[in-house]
Amino acid sequence: MKFNTQNAEFILSAAKMADCPRDDLPQIAFAGRSNVGKSSVINRLLGRKNFARVGSAPGKTTHINYFRIDKQVYFVDLPGYGYAKVSKQERARWGKLIEQWFADANLLTLGILLVDLRHKPTKDDCTMAQWFKDSGKPFVVVANKQDKIKKSEWEPNLARIRETLELPDTVPIISFSAEKGLGKEELLGVILDHIHGGYKQEKED
Ligand code: GTP
Ligand code: MG
Repeated sequence: MKFNTQNAEFILSAAKMADCPRDDLPQIAFAGRSNVGKSSVINRLLGRKNFARVGSAPGKTTHINYFRIDKQVYFVDLPGYGYAKVSKQERARWGKLIEQWFADANLLTLGILLVDLRHKPTKDDCTMAQWFKDSGKPFVVVANKQDKIKKSEWEPNLARIRETLELPDTVPIISFSAEKGLGKEELLGVILDHIHGGYKQEKED
């Protein structure tokens, strides 16, 4: 089965659960702190510059943005958390929306938790990791902004991320740079494995 990442459409911006699509397409959720690079990673995967918006105003993405790729899968850009200037009310609204989204068994197919390779994961990152674990669905951690640190820091920082998030051995961490494109093929491979289970097979054909 072919998968054309160029064929990407913006579907909708959901402010409440009733807005979320519920068809048979798998849903790949991108979650992470505001400014960690969710939109940039999506753009990189699709080979587009300005498709998912890249925020000049962090914390403004308060909706769940749905993109459909090649009519086969949704990329779900979850609103970023941890932005200091967001009001208490807004934070509570965010928490409720995400919690409901995760509680809905029909939605999540594969989770992608983005963290910053430079830093120790925050409390919010740990909470998010816990939601993914509790979902019972597979997830992968993407450690973004690799281009911003020295090579000697990559390995120790990856180990610190695994330890802080208390990741089970089955959860892979992929080093990534949305800026430079590093990690793109590996992450696309994981995504494709989960949408039809047929990607590797096709490559071998
Ligand atoms: P919200 O939508 O506010 O939650 O943010 P986001 O997680 O979607 O982050 P976004 O993609 O808007 O990126 C935030 C900033 O980080 C932008 O200025 C990006 O250009 C920058 N950025 C993202 N990924 C990378 C990366 O891998 N390397 C570098 N150097 N900068 C990056
Ligand atoms: Mg964004």
